[in-house]
Amino acid sequence: MGHKHKKHEWTEERSERFIKSVENRIGKRYTSFIKKINSFMKRYDFNENGKIADIGCGPGFLLFELKKVVPNTEIIGVDSSELMINTAIKKAKEQRIYNFEFKKGYAENIPIEENNVDLATCFNSLHDFNDWKQSIREVFRILGKNGIFILHDRSGVYPKWKFISVIFRIGIRNAIRYYKTRRSWLDPNLVETIMIETGFQILSLEKKEHYIIVGRK
Ligand SMILES: C[S@@+](CC[C@H](N)C(=O)[O-])C[C@H]1O[C@@H](n2cnc3c(N)ncnc32)[C@H](O)[C@@H]1O
Repeated sequence: MGHKHKKHEWTEERSERFIKSVENRIGKRYTSFIKKINSFMKRYDFNENGKIADIGCGPGFLLFELKKVVPNTEIIGVDSSELMINTAIKKAKEQRIYNFEFKKGYAENIPIEENNVDLATCFNSLHDFNDWKQSIREVFRILGKNGIFILHDRSGVYPKWKFISVIFRIGIRNAIRYYKTRRSWLDPNLVETIMIETGFQILSLEKKEHYIIVGRK
């Protein structure tokens, strides 16, 4: 046995727990990122009738919040968990969202044609993918010319003790579970390097407890 970290699997049970815990704090979890996305969309002239794909979309909450800001966009969510996809479809119908598609598929082999989307997002999911570098190449492939990729994830180099704030945010039980995944959190500088190698032009990079990288194809 080596020391290689085994990823914490997204079992049905884990997915169900995730959905329940997130559902009660949609505002807290997504609002500040939505504000960021909105300001990037304005800054980089996003076409309000364009197409947005969220990779590792989970139950679709981020896309539903985005739809409130840019209602005419077509949204596509991709996630490897059938439970997440089925939940997203159910929630979209309940909320009378139109112009949506949720597809079961892997970030490493995104079930979307190339040069197809105007904006790709990936929220707190990159570190979960089996091959995150391949996933970045896949996002590049599906983006159209000048398409934007907005990536948000937990930073693996942020001081661990600051994790205490997470306890206040999501409660001790969830925080402990969350902290157990820490070995898979990525170094934003490495992610940036891989994005550049893939062909992205980096437009913005913020590094804190979470990092946000914006790249243009
Ligand atoms: C932490 S959750 C985030 C979900 C969503 N972005 C959100 O914040 O509500 C990570 C998601 O990544 C999905 N996932 C894990 N590995 C994946 C892969 N290889 N391809 C696509 N999705 C994957 C999981 O099923 C899970 O829904």
